[in-house]
Amino acid sequence: MNDMDDDVSLNPSANASMTDVIADRLENPARREVFKGIAMTAAVSFLGGTMLSTGAALAQNAAPAAAPVGTGAKRPTALGFRPVGKSLSDTVSVPEGYAARPLFRLGDPMAANIPAYKNDGTDAAATYAMRAGDHHDAIVYFGADANGRYSTNSSTRGLLVMNHEAITPSFLHPAGVTATGTGNDQKRTVADEVMKEFYVHGVSVVEVERAANNGAWSYKQDSRLNRRVHTLTQMAISGPAAGNAQMVTKFSPQGTMTRGTVNNCAGGYTPWGTYLTCEENYAGYFRRVAATDDPKRTPKELANFRRNGVAGTGRELWATMAPDTADNLYGRWNAEVIGAAAAEDYRNVANTFGWVVEIDPFNPDSTPKKRTAIGRFAHEGAWPGPVVAGRPLVWYSGDDSRGEYIYKFVSTANWDPADATRGMAAGDKYLDNGKLYVAKFNADGTGEWIELRFGAGALTASNTTYAFADQADVLINARIAADIVGATKMDRPEWGAVDPVNGQVYMTLTNNNAALRPLAALDAANPRHYNDKRVNGTAQWGNSNGHIIRWQEGNDVAAATNFRWDIYLFGSRAESDPRNVNLSALTADNDFSSPDGLWFSNATGICWIQTDDGAYTDVTNCMLLAALPGSVGDGGAQARRTVTSTNADGQTREVATFVGAPAGDKVRRFLVGPSMCEITGITETPDGRTLFVNIQHPGEDTPAANIGDPSKFGSHWPDGGMARPRSATIVITKNDNGVIAV
Ligand code: FEO
Ligand code: CA
Ligand code: CA
Repeated sequence: MNDMDDDVSLNPSANASMTDVIADRLENPARREVFKGIAMTAAVSFLGGTMLSTGAALAQNAAPAAAPVGTGAKRPTALGFRPVGKSLSDTVSVPEGYAARPLFRLGDPMAANIPAYKNDGTDAAATYAMRAGDHHDAIVYFGADANGRYSTNSSTRGLLVMNHEAITPSFLHPAGVTATGTGNDQKRTVADEVMKEFYVHGVSVVEVERAANNGAWSYKQDSRLNRRVHTLTQMAISGPAAGNAQMVTKFSPQGTMTRGTVNNCAGGYTPWGTYLTCEENYAGYFRRVAATDDPKRTPKELANFRRNGVAGTGRELWATMAPDTADNLYGRWNAEVIGAAAAEDYRNVANTFGWVVEIDPFNPDSTPKKRTAIGRFAHEGAWPGPVVAGRPLVWYSGDDSRGEYIYKFVSTANWDPADATRGMAAGDKYLDNGKLYVAKFNADGTGEWIELRFGAGALTASNTTYAFADQADVLINARIAADIVGATKMDRPEWGAVDPVNGQVYMTLTNNNAALRPLAALDAANPRHYNDKRVNGTAQWGNSNGHIIRWQEGNDVAAATNFRWDIYLFGSRAESDPRNVNLSALTADNDFSSPDGLWFSNATGICWIQTDDGAYTDVTNCMLLAALPGSVGDGGAQARRTVTSTNADGQTREVATFVGAPAGDKVRRFLVGPSMCEITGITETPDGRTLFVNIQHPGEDTPAANIGDPSKFGSHWPDGGMARPRSATIVITKNDNGVIAV
């Protein structure tokens, strides 16, 4: 979603301002020596071509069995395309020699009996149950064989599985959203409008094919594998929180089921061919008017609501549609105490969202499962670490809000390649039991994973901040647990990705503002505060352009609880101060702001960076860049930098950080999207010759008052003319059918 919409910080904890840690390091000669030792070792290791550091912190955590971390993927030494210029035009620009075409747009029919999309708000609500959803986001290509089974090497037929994070409600309806009243009394009045909105959220599974004759891609409207998972789809609650009292609703008095998934942002996948969709800003969809509901709740419930933002009228006002149905289609969005007990209302419903949800795309009848062992927060995604036979599996997650944390999940079970064909049963084995960790980034360039385990450290029933009852309570309230153990507040963790060449982990920190990253709260891993520019007459203070952090764990990633980090790239305008803002030396060919989507190609090892920006949009629409990263510590002697930040009051502060090698021509802009869009979600065919990229919410900022006048729409992409804009998947190929970007 637009990064201006969810600028919420609900993190009141005092942790993670690394100020104290920095002061400690500077005053403590012993710690300074440790830092110097690690930095030097890192530089030497890199120059010598050694893949993994033997720095002090990592040596303490030496792996018992040193399996190779990468998949053996190779990276080219140079990118093979000419950079695309910045652009404000309402088109998709790609390099010379490439083609980009819309493939799967909002409203496109996904079953034989569904009519073509009229795109004027009059398409029948019921038909949306089998139309492409809105706000395309994370996407994964799963190859399929001739029998429709998962095939890891099929590059001409497959399933695209993608998220539909949110909606641009105005363009869904004939004349925008119909509602009455104001404030807490605002109400939706047209059931068909609400039903459409229920359907266009969630996930699409859609079969795609490449024509043998001309190489053109199309989706198969009548495939038996096409499926929509949306806010009405029944889902099982799985793992430690299943059956917990905090999951009980009228729909599932046992606390083992819930209906729907919402705000599906980033995602991930498993080695057994299932898709992981993640529930990001779920909290805002529920109605809970604090003034009347707070007196009815326990202190622990209130702590949960405050920390997760469950308060308000609900962003789409779904709970207000009346009359309600017998199965509470609308009332289930009301998280207030209404009945006599939890099994008689939906007071707990928000606890059934905020999870990683597993979907088996090759089994359209399968029930999705919310995998609670991975914790509950504004889950941005779940990115798999290296898959090593005989070792546990690893997934990384970000919590996308300003000042939130980065997490790592490690399965209890060791990976058995024979499970690669077991579908959801493999999910039960690997995703329902494991350790959940949260990251702490130290000022000396090291970091640690702190386990969130009931009974360990301060996560006990006698904790005075929050008296945890059991592991389910820790997982449901993962943010509170992470506060307590001292995790590092980050500049809005968006996507992560694991480098197939060396197993290092990258994560975008999309941006932060002055209020939530003031000078006093700068730390080594989030070191910038400056005035980027004026957009719409408003100064942008804070870390408005964002950065990409990366880290390197020990050889055995499943066992590693320490890592070494640096900052791979800082977003910036090319002309900004190279000492303190444009620290990666970006140029006109690769300057960007607010990195959001992030993904590594397994075919080429290229790192793809997507933006969701509001700070550089006076100059350019959002974009996609290709990059050839090196390795943690590749900034060499220049890696340790002191960054001077200045705030709006003219105060300054210096913070030491660690910066990767300058971008140079190893980072190039590959694509610029249409007006008011965000570029998010990218996947490829295994041969690397086709990229699928999602364009989300073109024209999003069109004022509702302009819906009646197409000449005033903020975008007409992709259909052109006077059409309403549509989120869409585009397919990118090279005109000579070559591998993309090399
Ligand atoms: Fe949905 Fe994290 O942006
Ligand atoms: Ca975003
Ligand atoms: Ca995002």
